[in-house]
Amino acid sequence: MTLDDPAAIARGDAHRTREVLAAFPAQCREAVGLRPEPGGPFVRPRAVIVAGMGGSAAGADLLAACAAERLDVPVLVHRGYGLPALVGQRDLVIVVSYSGDTAETLSAAEAALERGSSLVAVTAGGRLGALAAQRNLPRVALPTGLMPRMALGYLFFPLLAILKSADLTVVKDSEVDEALVALDAQAGALGPGRPAAENEAKRLALALGSRLPVIYGGPLTGAVAYRWKTDLAENAKTFAAAGTLPEMNHNEIEAWGSPFARQMQLVLLRDHEETPEIARRFALLRELIGAAAGGISEVWARGTGCAARLLSLITLGQWTSFYLAILRGVDPWPVPTLDALKTRLRGGAP
Ligand code: PA5
Repeated sequence: MTLDDPAAIARGDAHRTREVLAAFPAQCREAVGLRPEPGGPFVRPRAVIVAGMGGSAAGADLLAACAAERLDVPVLVHRGYGLPALVGQRDLVIVVSYSGDTAETLSAAEAALERGSSLVAVTAGGRLGALAAQRNLPRVALPTGLMPRMALGYLFFPLLAILKSADLTVVKDSEVDEALVALDAQAGALGPGRPAAENEAKRLALALGSRLPVIYGGPLTGAVAYRWKTDLAENAKTFAAAGTLPEMNHNEIEAWGSPFARQMQLVLLRDHEETPEIARRFALLRELIGAAAGGISEVWARGTGCAARLLSLITLGQWTSFYLAILRGVDPWPVPTLDALKTRLRGGAP
């Protein structure tokens, strides 16, 4: 199938995911202005813990990746029930759930209240929105109507604002501006109107075809590799593997000796700001395992600030997973098995 037939794309995209992806730069611009109400400032914490699941934890991963480069306060991403034992009164807990109804995240909010931590909610509503209203907690109120993974702008930029009002600057304003400009440029370059010959996301989806995507990033972009894996799972409904250099050099590299390697498409997430040590490892990786893979794709982040570098690679992954869904004949929007699981957990049928 060609990816240059607008009618075929429209037929495969009944929920108009393409329009939501195309609006991502506008979403990010709007998200930059979102603030918690009642607002800060918040006390500078001992540690920041961001609790969320799935798409609602993705913004936290980006925050932690950027913070690792410059903050003297740890930023921990917590995926699960409750909170880690270390969390206490001197910590800032941000609970993020797009729907507001995620059981694990609600339990993290309850744990933060019990321990007397500073607590901020980021949500479009649901039970978390109700809890915030009832307890008069600071809440960033998000617009409704999106799938959580497609609300990444809303789930990332407000975290920067919350930390800034706790005297923790993770991303400078100039870096936010750079990211917004990079996203605008990508919107035209990756959308359905741009033919495959000039469209990196379409070309990547075609290269992936029926192969299993294996995505590797470096120390900063490892978080993006994981995000590609989850976008491929939820949008294209396909398995994918993700890993981070240098860690995968010490274990997963051996798996490429397997005959299954021929069924894999190796995708390397590169970054012009990566250190010479990491660049050398990517080069050696290509030399050592490249011939075993079914194919190799190498893609590069845009910009110099961490927000532009991370978000530009994520945008490329979002569009790639969208086009792969179209190629494989699956609707990129719904997540029926996840929905069924949530319904059963709440005691509903089926
Ligand atoms: O992308 C998705 O739909 C999921 O990964 C959800 O984000 C996840 O199930 C958690 O739900 P919520 O984001 O509403 O807290």
